[in-house]
Amino acid sequence: MIRGKFITLEGGEGVGKTTNLAFIKGYLQQHNVPVVVTREPGGTVLAEKIRHLLLDNDSETISEPAELLLIFAARAQHIKHVIEPALAQGAWVLCDRFTDATYAYQGGGRNMRISTIEWLENLVQGSLRPDLTLLLDAPVEIGLERAQKRAAFDRFESEKISFFEQVRRAYLLQLELHPERIKLIKANQPLVDVQSALINVIHPLLR
Ligand code: TMP
Repeated sequence: MIRGKFITLEGGEGVGKTTNLAFIKGYLQQHNVPVVVTREPGGTVLAEKIRHLLLDNDSETISEPAELLLIFAARAQHIKHVIEPALAQGAWVLCDRFTDATYAYQGGGRNMRISTIEWLENLVQGSLRPDLTLLLDAPVEIGLERAQKRAAFDRFESEKISFFEQVRRAYLLQLELHPERIKLIKANQPLVDVQSALINVIHPLLR
């Protein structure tokens, strides 16, 4: 059995991940690729419970180390019960956020040490890394305006603009560090242009 590909979709708030995830899923299915679509934090029963704890606005203040550990606890469950089994069966896994989000939000946004994140990444993931990461990038104000129209803000979305600027910068730093894996997609352009940019990057993987 040929192992499936692991594709992750990343970006700040309101950059259009949901719409584009559905588009990529459809594109892969048209090419007869078996796809499993999932998200982080979440993707298993326990990990979705952790997601709820992380996004809940009314809980007690969550310390930064507690937040980081909860995210990696959810990730460990997700890898064991969803991602690894799917890849082993030859399915492609399309994941809405993964560890680049931890570097961006906990590393950039919360200023947690990068070496700590790396240590947890190695502990939880072993050698597992995405084959391709699509980074949807747009100016922070544009994304937040879109996110605002959607629903009440969760615990992350309630952060200050400066937090999201740090998140964006940290994502762009990840891009610089891993140019072979991470591909930048400009999100503040017409949807058809975003989608043709996505196809340009995904199509070579099909061969
Ligand atoms: P979502 O709104 O894209 O579903 O993501 C939920 C929130 O979780 C989002 O605000 C970013 C945050 N998050 C982190 O802070 N670190 C992580 O590692 C992941 C995967 C998400």
